[in-house]
Amino acid sequence: MHFEFTEEQLMIRQAARDFAQTELKPGVIERDEHQKFPAEQVKKLGELGFLGMMVSPQYGGSGMDAISYVLVMEELSKIDASASVVVSVNNSLVCYGLEKYGNEAQKQKYLVPLAKGEKIGAFCLSEPEAGSDATSQRTTAVDMGDHYLLNGTKNWITNGSSASTYLVIAQTDASKKHHGINALIVEREMEGFTVGNKENKMGIRGSDTHSLMFTDVKVPKENRIGDEGFGFKFAMSTLEGGRIGIAAQALGIASGAHELAVQYAKERKAFGKTIADLQAIQFKLADMATEIEAARLLCLKAAWLKDHGHPYAKASSMAKLFASEVAMRTTIEAVQIHGGYGFVKEYHVERLMRDAKITQIYEGTSEIQRIVISREVLK
Ligand code: CAA
Repeated sequence: MHFEFTEEQLMIRQAARDFAQTELKPGVIERDEHQKFPAEQVKKLGELGFLGMMVSPQYGGSGMDAISYVLVMEELSKIDASASVVVSVNNSLVCYGLEKYGNEAQKQKYLVPLAKGEKIGAFCLSEPEAGSDATSQRTTAVDMGDHYLLNGTKNWITNGSSASTYLVIAQTDASKKHHGINALIVEREMEGFTVGNKENKMGIRGSDTHSLMFTDVKVPKENRIGDEGFGFKFAMSTLEGGRIGIAAQALGIASGAHELAVQYAKERKAFGKTIADLQAIQFKLADMATEIEAARLLCLKAAWLKDHGHPYAKASSMAKLFASEVAMRTTIEAVQIHGGYGFVKEYHVERLMRDAKITQIYEGTSEIQRIVISREVLK
């Protein structure tokens, strides 16, 4: 066991740090305020290979490991979690699923442009009445011989209007329950597919979250991922890796808020000294740093297990559960340390506090992570 990054991992972390400072930081407050998708920045992330960073070069990706992915997600999320969620969804939920379970034709047609960042993908599991209870899919994909007829509504879809390729989970044979669910690749241009209104969210306001409607969309049989009825396992397996990405996003939000709090505490004067000289502030900063380090180790452990081909469901849920709770606690304390300045937009911490909340909700709420962990513990 050793705790050192490779040269390559350090280089990619530095590249992400530089990108966050030079490309994401300017305009982040405005994008949040106006709910503006970071289109230009996402295009550049694609050109730099971040959108398909774990995909093999054979399919247009950068061939990096999950450890590098955690490092990149942390750095981007320190500054702009609305941009980093695009990196997470495209890499973990879309590219990973296609590379692992797609056939060669699907990889050539869909994975290559997604991994190169020429297109963006979306993962469509949640529905108005099926969020945590993901087996209760109401969207139907009726088998019509050479195609499926897709009908239904998906909710809370990240990259909803900016994606071109959508992985849609739908019920084909309800009598088989979750064994009758399929995962289908849907193209934006398919007839009968419409993008609903953008959600007006508390946090990650730059990210593009929509409901999607499918009305008699004809999806060719060759767009089904894996065997008939594999859709639910596809979704669960894909989410295991997705949770590492969101855990690292939460870690980044926490460490970004901590850095700002440290900087502010060293500058702000009160009672004749800087507030960093007050033990009340020192203890807060120490607790935040300790929790962040623990969250980082959980993220890296989950990534290491994935990279080495070991089971990682429990580890990724532990990382997401803990890191997202640390993100919430840390950002609340960072606002407190900033006092009144923490409550205004220019100081960034109020945005990080709002952004932190979603990490306890999407890709499985904290309660879902506890279910996954307790099942493993009780096995
Ligand atoms: N890998 C492969 N298969 C898995 C699996 C995994 N990680 N987890 C479960 N399965 C399989 C099980 O083996 C089982 O198959 P068999 O019946 O053949 O044995 C099947 O899936 C059903 O499993 P469960 O009985 O455990 O199912 P459950 O109904 O009890 O639900 C759950 C389990 C953990 C609660 C699951 O429903 C879940 O994770 N829900 C949350 C869904 C979620 O995370 N949604 C987020 C939406 S995506 C999003 O937010 C993306 C975004 O835009 C940012």
